Amino acid sequence: GKVGVLFGGRSAEREVSIMSGNGVLSALKSFGVDAHAFDPAQRSLADLESEKFDRVFIALHGRYGEDGSLQGVLEQLAIPYTGSGVMASSIAMDKIFTKKIWQSHQLTTPNYAVLTLGSDLDLVSAELGLPLIIKPPHEGSTIGITKVNVTAEMAAAYTLAAEFDDEVLAEEFIQGRELTVAVLGKGANAYALPIIEIVAPEGNYDYQNKYFTDDTKYLCPAPMDAALTAEIQAMCVESYRAINCEGWARVDVLLRASDNKPFLIEINTSPGMTGHSLVPMAARAAGMSYEEVCLTILKTASL
Ligand code: DAL
Ligand code: MG
Repeated sequence: GKVGVLFGGRSAEREVSIMSGNGVLSALKSFGVDAHAFDPAQRSLADLESEKFDRVFIALHGRYGEDGSLQGVLEQLAIPYTGSGVMASSIAMDKIFTKKIWQSHQLTTPNYAVLTLGSDLDLVSAELGLPLIIKPPHEGSTIGITKVNVTAEMAAAYTLAAEFDDEVLAEEFIQGRELTVAVLGKGANAYALPIIEIVAPEGNYDYQNKYFTDDTKYLCPAPMDAALTAEIQAMCVESYRAINCEGWARVDVLLRASDNKPFLIEINTSPGMTGHSLVPMAARAAGMSYEEVCLTILKTASL
């Protein structure tokens, strides 16, 4: 049947999505799939309906693509789509709600506070300790994030994050190793791919170092003993099930250096599929090519 690859879109991650979508499109075409690009920022929802796609691969990141709103439209149009459903997508897009659900499942995530206009920033920095991380809860790709080292930097960090969201997340800083784990499947059949460790220049895995430099080093499988590997993979699968994710997602984790304790940071329900991206890297370590992982994900498209 006819497959739509949805990419581009209206979020701050549009540029990343275009890289992801072009990769997915050519991967699917390499298997002879009748795949067509569709950019919801340039075409209407009426077009989405009239294209008569039999199913779609969502390669959109961020708002209006990863956040459940588009998933709702696809449900209405009865077009099967890849990845999580409406509820899981919208919860995962909100880093504060995600943390609340994980905490209710006794899954470890860094301590946090929610900042709004008029919050006592001095009090929050005293409670969470310094350094701390300030981020907009609905963005991706490190957009709007600041590591605050001294209280005097709090106000500017809040103002930057508040450009993207009304409520801003302040999070305890976890000093340690940066890991990410791709999870595929659904419910009891969900499983983790090999763990990736990210070693960014000066520990700064920002937008530039994510997509445009070759200075970031990736270790996959992450060098650690089998017991810790299994513990982290199991935690990531549980975190995925707790949100009711489907199809695929990527869970970002920090492994605290002082005691090797893993902390869940966030779950991405429409992870990057660019040439620099991590799900394809983990798949490769599991013996699956970029093209094969795209096809595997497409096959899970559902309503
Ligand atoms: N938000 C980016 C695309 C990712 O998680 O890969
Ligand atoms: Mg993210």
